[in-house]
Amino acid sequence: MIIAVDGPAASGKGTIAKALAVHFALPWLDTGLLYRAVGIGVLRAGGDPDNPNIALTACDFPDALLEDPALRSEGAGAYASRVSVHPEVRAALIERQKAFAAQPGGAVLDGRDIGTVIAPHADAKLFVTASPEIRAERRYRDESADNQDANHDAILADIIQRDKRDSERANAPLKRAEDADLLDTSDLTISAAVQRAIALVEARTGKR
Ligand code: CDP
Ligand code: CDP
Repeated sequence: MIIAVDGPAASGKGTIAKALAVHFALPWLDTGLLYRAVGIGVLRAGGDPDNPNIALTACDFPDALLEDPALRSEGAGAYASRVSVHPEVRAALIERQKAFAAQPGGAVLDGRDIGTVIAPHADAKLFVTASPEIRAERRYRDESADNQDANHDAILADIIQRDKRDSERANAPLKRAEDADLLDTSDLTISAAVQRAIALVEARTGKR
C-alpha cells in the first residue's frame, strides 16, 4: 500500500504522514529532507542556489546530513525551494524516492509531487493544506523554541514566497492530484487531523 501525502509548507503533512506510517505499519520518507540537504549543501558552500550546476554538485550528499537539525530551519527550506526548481536536481533525487515507494509492503511518502510524479498510482493520496497565517504561526512556534531571533512576519513572507515558487515552477509543481483527498488542517488539532487522515485512507483502500 502506497500513501502519498502532499501539501504546502507547514500544512502538517509530515506529522500526518508519520502517524499514517505508524498506524498502517509502513516505512515513511519525508522527501523534503532530500531537497533541504541539497539546499544546505549549497548554502554552506556559499554557492548560488539558482545555478543548476552548483545545485547539482550538492545532490551527492552523505546520508548523515539528513539527520542535521539545521535542515529544519526556514532558511534551509528557502534554499531547498530554490534548488528544487532545477530539473537536474529533481532527476538526481527521483530514483531514491521511487525505490522507497516500490519496496514490498508499501510506504508513506510526503512532499510536493508524490501523488503526481513519484507515485502517481498510489493507493491513497492526501493533499494537506492550512491557511498561510496558521502555517506561519506553527513554523514560528517551532523555530522560536531554539532561535530567539525567529521573526513571525519574515517566516510568513518566506512561506508565501516558497509556496508561490513551488506551485509555479514548470517541473513537478506543487498541485493537488485529481484523485487526492483534500484535508484542511487549519482548524484541526494534530490528533483530529490524524484521525481524519486515517479515515480518508481507510475509505480509499479498505484497509484498517
Ligand atoms: O510537514 P509540514 O511542513 O507540512 O508540517 P509539520 O512539520 O507536520 O507541521 C508543522 C507544525 O505544525 C508542527 O509543529 C506540527 O506539530 C504543527 N501542527 C499543528 O499544530 N496542527 C496540525 N493539525 C498539524 C501540525
Ligand atoms: O516541511 P515543509 O513543507 O516546510 O518543506 P519540505 O517538505 O521539507 O520541503 C522543502 C522544499 O523542498 C519545498 O519548499 C519544495 O521546494 C521542495 N520539495 C520538492 O520540490 N518536492 C518534494 N517532493 C519535497 C520538497
